[in-house]
Amino acid sequence: MSVEMSKPVPRPGILDIAAYVPGKEHAAGVTRVYKLSSNETPLGASPKAIEAFKAAAGNLERYPDGQALELREAIASVHGLNPANILCGNGSDELLGLLCHVYLGPGDEGIITEHGFLVYKIQIMGAGATPVVVKEKNHTVDVDAILAAVTDKTKIVFIANPGNPTGTYIPVSEIRRLQAGLPKHVVLVLDAAYAEYVRRNDYESGIEVVSSNANVVMTRTFSKAYGLAALRVGWMYAPVEIIDALNRVRGPFNMNAPAIAAGAAAIRDQSFIQEAVSFNQMWIEKLTNALEAIGLKVTPSVANFVLIHFPETDGKRAADADEFLTSRGYILRAVRSYGFPNSLRMSVGPEEANHGVIEALGEFMGRKA
Ligand SMILES: Cc1ncc(COP(=O)(O)O)c(C=O)c1O
Repeated sequence: MSVEMSKPVPRPGILDIAAYVPGKEHAAGVTRVYKLSSNETPLGASPKAIEAFKAAAGNLERYPDGQALELREAIASVHGLNPANILCGNGSDELLGLLCHVYLGPGDEGIITEHGFLVYKIQIMGAGATPVVVKEKNHTVDVDAILAAVTDKTKIVFIANPGNPTGTYIPVSEIRRLQAGLPKHVVLVLDAAYAEYVRRNDYESGIEVVSSNANVVMTRTFSKAYGLAALRVGWMYAPVEIIDALNRVRGPFNMNAPAIAAGAAAIRDQSFIQEAVSFNQMWIEKLTNALEAIGLKVTPSVANFVLIHFPETDGKRAADADEFLTSRGYILRAVRSYGFPNSLRMSVGPEEANHGVIEALGEFMGRKA
């Protein structure tokens, strides 16, 4: 007979997990606030997606399609894929969790990188497994460090490409080298949440690598360039065996009907995305140049945010800048929990907010420390 407890007790390890803290939203006493802390798009969603969302309101009494076929077919047709290789999730976060639930258990290890997205660690620990953290090089995923950390307990490797909060990427040649160096039973997760924004010839989101290997999956999201963060729409491109395993444990109606309808309409509207990407490209360059011109260091970014590093001087640190910006209504993201105690991450925002932050940081840096 098992020992009786006075109250329910979570599995070992669950209470060791530090819960995810989302980006701040409010600034006390400031009426006009710009939230630049969650990498949301300043351009909203496609009008076609909004229309589809509204139309879905007419049928709220009905269960959604548990296979999310309309959305999977729309994604498949835009990306030239087979819908059988696509699984949709309540945000890509859900898919990251399902992968851990299915492929990890106590005694297993999941490899993540030094500045990797925090959800990986949470989900690895949630599955009762052990996160193994490897160093990055120049704020960039280091394939050799990952391969050196593989043991016979390794079951999964997570990399974000581009990375969050770094905004850096590794080229497809490095992804191939990573896949080739991993044992065939280790699942390699390529989290391409920011893929739409990348404009580099040597970048590939993962489609080609997934197509030619049985142990690689790519996750994507509609929360960033597509502007549907509120609806929670993510998808995964993966071998059918992996999709089949995840389908056995996911909620039968994990995607809600308005999300399916809006997601399908959003991905069909590629001209909207092209505009969003051009706007972002212009602002990533402008922000990087302007911030460097006022004496700050910025990690080169291919995504929709920049990681800004502050001086080690008293009064000029990231925490001081955070306070200064917040009092003016600009909310950036503190990234201490990502291993950057003296940096802030800023999402590309609307024009006036981007100008406002540049101006405010100019003033901040010019101040006497
Ligand atoms: C690297 C990375 N992966 C995944 C996600 C989660 O996206 P979703 O909104 O689809 O759950 C984010 C969101 O911030 C992210 O930055």
